[in-house]
Amino acid sequence: MLETRPVIRVKNLINQMTLDEKINYLSGTGFVDGEKIGETKALPHLGIPAVKMTDATSGSKLTEDHILFPAFVCLAATFNPELSALYGRAVAEQCKADGYRVLLGPGVNMYRVPHCGRNFEYLGEDPYLACNMLVPYIKSVQEMGVIATVKHFVANNSEHYRKVSNSVVSERALHEIYYPVFKAAVQEANVKAVMTSYNLVNGEWVGQNKHLITNILRNEWGFDGLVMSDWWSIYNPEKAIKSGLDLEMPSARVFGKKWIKSLLAEGIISEAWINQRLINILKPFCETGLLDEKHPDPLLRKNWPEHARIAIETARQGIVLLKNQDDILPISIDSTKKLAIIGKNAVETSASGGGAGGFDPGEKLVTYLDAIINIASKNNIDVTYCEVPYYNIANVDTVLIFLTILEHEFMDRPFDLSDKQKKLIRQTANSNPNTVVVLSLGSGAEMASWIDEVKGLVYNWYPGTYGAQALAEILFGEINPSGKLPFSIEHRESDTHYYGNYLPEGTELPREIQRWYHGSPIFDIHYREGIFTGYRWYDTKNIQPLFPFGFGLSYSSFKIDNLKLSSGTIVGDEKLTIRCNVQNTTDVDGAEVVQLYIQDIKSSESRPKKELKGFKRVSLKAHETKQVEMTVDKNDLSFWSEVHRSWQVEDGSFNVLVGTSSANIYLKESFDYFKQNIPKEL
Ligand code: BGC
Repeated sequence: MLETRPVIRVKNLINQMTLDEKINYLSGTGFVDGEKIGETKALPHLGIPAVKMTDATSGSKLTEDHILFPAFVCLAATFNPELSALYGRAVAEQCKADGYRVLLGPGVNMYRVPHCGRNFEYLGEDPYLACNMLVPYIKSVQEMGVIATVKHFVANNSEHYRKVSNSVVSERALHEIYYPVFKAAVQEANVKAVMTSYNLVNGEWVGQNKHLITNILRNEWGFDGLVMSDWWSIYNPEKAIKSGLDLEMPSARVFGKKWIKSLLAEGIISEAWINQRLINILKPFCETGLLDEKHPDPLLRKNWPEHARIAIETARQGIVLLKNQDDILPISIDSTKKLAIIGKNAVETSASGGGAGGFDPGEKLVTYLDAIINIASKNNIDVTYCEVPYYNIANVDTVLIFLTILEHEFMDRPFDLSDKQKKLIRQTANSNPNTVVVLSLGSGAEMASWIDEVKGLVYNWYPGTYGAQALAEILFGEINPSGKLPFSIEHRESDTHYYGNYLPEGTELPREIQRWYHGSPIFDIHYREGIFTGYRWYDTKNIQPLFPFGFGLSYSSFKIDNLKLSSGTIVGDEKLTIRCNVQNTTDVDGAEVVQLYIQDIKSSESRPKKELKGFKRVSLKAHETKQVEMTVDKNDLSFWSEVHRSWQVEDGSFNVLVGTSSANIYLKESFDYFKQNIPKEL
């Protein structure tokens, strides 16, 4: 480690600590539900204050009068890295206002199964999209003087009995699908903290996994910050301390004096090893000013109105319109007289999923009904709400059904809506064909069995405190929808990569919330699909999903054409520039996300038919045309080879595919890549 000023200062502090103080500093001060999520110990005689931590990615739970932002998955659906930077900065300001200088987020586990109770806290199925949304978020959190903690490292892709689930994953799938977000956090965003996950990976709990923490995270990627455990997730003192983990959270269960001292006495670890753990913890604190500044900065509250604006903008850009038969939406303010709103979620709006990422937005919450009435009343539209369609809805102009599925940390959920919800959809659609379903959740759900019965479907995610306003604006056409699905949604589970590779055979998901410790034996989750998750799987198997990755409708239509590559060949580190035009062909202003996929035409190892390697969100006035430019280089052409145990790029031809979802590709051009020189015969 470089002897930078913070390192010198921290070493100096460590030299003044007694052994007991050193050991004591390796664990937090405990957890008090609703009051204290995590905190490091104070050493006042050395000027080291307690550092307070708060959950999580979509806001600061412990900050009084916080604003909850739309779920992180909604941010992914915006495909807008600049917005991610604003969202991250606002979350950091919310933390800092009340003195929380370690944010226990962002969460970035990849979307593997729709059942995962935490998908709403993450960024979808595609590593390229997730990395590009993640990096600006972390950078702006840390620019605000708040430490970001990227979590949960790694392969924690479902919650079902997560403390005893062992993710059995190939090295290639780890490198290509599950590691990239963490690697980008370290190498591109310079993240200062990493939280390990609850599960085991290939036979060992991550919090005590030397291969993952020391070999991969530290040695391979060069991470030199703080590695903390997830809350109560390490078991073996020797393995945990030798793995390279620095801080046990929320308190000492394993990193207690008794264990650490006996490991020292037996010569299994040295005091120098402990000192290194302390450097890793204190260096980020020192670099971030936590050892000097007064922590709370309540004046930041003046920015709350701006945060509300960013929250609403995230929902405006992230809400996804999935079906719009007969242009049922937007609701015409000229011809509509009566609207019916059905479903409890319209009034008891679930603002977020549950668990660490779950928030109570308090009295500020804007419900869907409030937001709809707000616009409807200005336009003399009559709105009637009822939980179920018990009155005659046949003669209203449009019926909106509000449904939610609870996603929650430490439980997974069924793929299907409940029977009651499906019945509600059917009954409503039978009474009035002009029915639109608005779904709030963070993942895919079974929709194939009822989607033909309704004319409209909006994927609204969890809206946070203010997102309902954006939904109302979209429903009435004040805002043109432009969100895109950050994952694929299957017709049926048997179509997917995870079918048979998720729950242990013969077991089912419990319907109720599970306990912290499940006491059941360890079970394996075999990631047999390897790198072929989501659209990579559908492409390879030639299966049509119900809704593809990257898909989302607009009230405008767009044309993409004029694809041009800067060259037919690139060599070595050269970049290829890709340009195309995108035109709004309608009278309505809107935004489209142009997506660039790369296809390796021939490879020595099997590869997905295409992979996302570029995207651009473009706002276009009515009939406006803009040129879009994206670049790729050899990193975008490479794959992780099990044979060479490293990233490889091979000479050969590649296709550039441009479209508006993984299944809507309109343009194709090819180019050649050579590692060194162009062969003479060409
Ligand atoms: C979650 C973490 C969270 C921590 C503290 C754990 O149960 O997995 O994401 O940061 O609790 O609340």
